[in-house]
Amino acid sequence: MKAMPIGLLLLALAFTSNANATNLYAGQSRAEAVCSQCHGIKSPSADAPFPILAGRDAAYLQSALKQYRDKTRKSDIMNAIAGSLTDADIANIAAYYARLKP
Ligand code: HEC
Repeated sequence: MKAMPIGLLLLALAFTSNANATNLYAGQSRAEAVCSQCHGIKSPSADAPFPILAGRDAAYLQSALKQYRDKTRKSDIMNAIAGSLTDADIANIAAYYARLKP
């Protein structure tokens, strides 16, 4: 086999994974600007009554945020915050928090 087809294959793989990639930088800036005020980044302050988000399963975080957004899960605070998030915002923020170590 010649080198060329392998190069093309790698290129195709790179593009495929890129198309599905969430934007961790966007997730990080949103988390730092908004979510961290209550949840912190790695953990909320010890006496704060907010759940830890860092290191949680991304799929869990996404489904929780979508439930808050469509109000199937009730929380005055989180319903208000999640109400303005797009699907992409939710995916980015969930991916960012999921990668952190609490
Ligand atoms: C003003 C404070 C505040 C801010 C800001 C805030 N949250 Fe929350 N969050 C809460 C509270 C309070 C709860 C617990 C609500 C409940 O009982 O369901 C919560 C719960 C959650 C949960 C559910 C956790 C679990 O264990 O099920 C997720 C996920 C979450 N928040 C994500 C976020 C994200 C992402 C942001 C930023 C876009 C954010 N929150 C911003 C106060 C806040």
